[in-house]
Amino acid sequence: MIKLKSILSLSLVSAALLAASCGKTVPAEQSIDIVPLPASVTTSDGAFMLKASTPVVQTFGDESMAYAINFWNGVTGEIFGREAETIQAEAPLKRAINIICDESLGDEQYRLKVDASGIEIAAKQANGVFYAFQTLRQMLPVAAFEADAARVAIPACEINDKPYFAYRGFMFDMGRHIFSVDEVKDMIDILAMHKVNRLHWHLTEDQGWRIEIKKYPRLTEVGSIRKSSPIGRNEGQDGKPYGGFFTQDQVRDVVQYAAERFITVIPEIEIPGHSVAALAAYPDLGCTGEQYEVATRWGVDDRVICPGKELAFTFWEDVLTEVMELFPSEYIHIGGDECPKTMWKKCPACQKRIRQEGLKNEAELQAYVTKRVEKFLNDHGRKIIGWDEILEGGVTQSATVMAWRGPGYGIQAAKLGNHVIMSPNSNCYLDYYQTRDVENEPLAIGGYLPLETSYAFDPYKQLNEEERKFILGVQGNLWTEYIDNYEYAQYMTLPRMSAIAEVGWSYDRKDYDSFLKRMGHLTQLFDHYGYTYCKHGFNTEEAAAASDKK
Ligand code: ACM
Ligand code: ZN
Repeated sequence: MIKLKSILSLSLVSAALLAASCGKTVPAEQSIDIVPLPASVTTSDGAFMLKASTPVVQTFGDESMAYAINFWNGVTGEIFGREAETIQAEAPLKRAINIICDESLGDEQYRLKVDASGIEIAAKQANGVFYAFQTLRQMLPVAAFEADAARVAIPACEINDKPYFAYRGFMFDMGRHIFSVDEVKDMIDILAMHKVNRLHWHLTEDQGWRIEIKKYPRLTEVGSIRKSSPIGRNEGQDGKPYGGFFTQDQVRDVVQYAAERFITVIPEIEIPGHSVAALAAYPDLGCTGEQYEVATRWGVDDRVICPGKELAFTFWEDVLTEVMELFPSEYIHIGGDECPKTMWKKCPACQKRIRQEGLKNEAELQAYVTKRVEKFLNDHGRKIIGWDEILEGGVTQSATVMAWRGPGYGIQAAKLGNHVIMSPNSNCYLDYYQTRDVENEPLAIGGYLPLETSYAFDPYKQLNEEERKFILGVQGNLWTEYIDNYEYAQYMTLPRMSAIAEVGWSYDRKDYDSFLKRMGHLTQLFDHYGYTYCKHGFNTEEAAAASDKK
């Protein structure tokens, strides 16, 4: 009979043998499939064997280089169970990932070279290094994350890459439904994976005010809670209170988390429309002073802030002062969309303002608001972005126009010499249906915007060379009237945001068939991270039907 001690020692021996043998070599991927598409990829024979012991060698960089390296540490930690060592050195080392400075490269640009002796990442600054690491993660076989890997083969290659557009954005609406700090951070990780560099955070709405403002506590005490939400498309009311907001500490946390992923958070404070929640908190801001409730229906509301009153400007300036303290972004988005003029037409204070300022009509009154708020922000070193309605009634040269009602508004703004961010609902609205088979989809706002249509977007269409210079970039917009949970938010975002990210990063080289093939690899990564994404765009019958109907 074998004694207990022998059993124990036998099992210890077999455990040791197992540990020595089960650390696998994960073979390299067959091809290098990166989304968004790099500017150039050249492959050669051989591979580098990435191991837990492969250090990152940092030969230059400011404190933000740590953010890029931290990202890679997270990846290697996941694969090998421990983070790579970081070595500060004057010169590159063998069998390492060497980060070297190349001053000739542009902002966000990088060069990634892999051969059997090591990996070299060249960039001018940390954001380029971060994007090289994002590319490197996509080059890893997904099996590397799932196997008990000891070595992961990375194919020898040289990748030269840089973005086409400087602004690559995503808008996330918190007003209609709010998402947790962790969910917003998860979305930031998804954006970073796509080399998106702006999160436009829509924080105020008729149906809810979502950011703590110390000087106006009722904005969140009262304005962050609605007593009920619509059922269906305003077909009924659920009768359940709904609310939430971000404290200033939470906002700082999100802004920092995004900064560590080279994403600037641009806050949006809606001025002067979409403000019923603010009016519910501070009724004096309205034309009539009436006490309203936070809106409980979706749509455009006639009840807007009264620019006839100086109080309104004091309010906006106070709010923006706190907002500027929280967000270091160059741009502040001041809304400006869907502001009905019904109340202003009947309001003595608004009409007096129109007369006193020599304005022609209510459209010019909104332009007066935009210009005055812009001047305040400019005086504090910031610039404004506004939805394309800011073109009505005259716009200053310095305002950036976010085209949403169609590319035509972006074209109009570019012809006027204004900077433009293209996010037309024809191609970039992520709340629209992704299939015609709507019966089998969760309820959405409507429309039909399949993956191919997002991909086909051409932000330069109908613009001459001179006008093209005014297009800063593109943005996908996720409005959340019908999106009340984060899984659904991911489903609507992916993979259309992958397509929009590729329009932004790879405009001059995009190719839909190649995109679909490369998405085959990226969706494996989505699966690995547990992201929910829509598969209709990968269904060839549906894609063919979408393309026939165009
Ligand atoms: C918008 O969709 N109202 C900008
Ligand atoms: Zn008024």
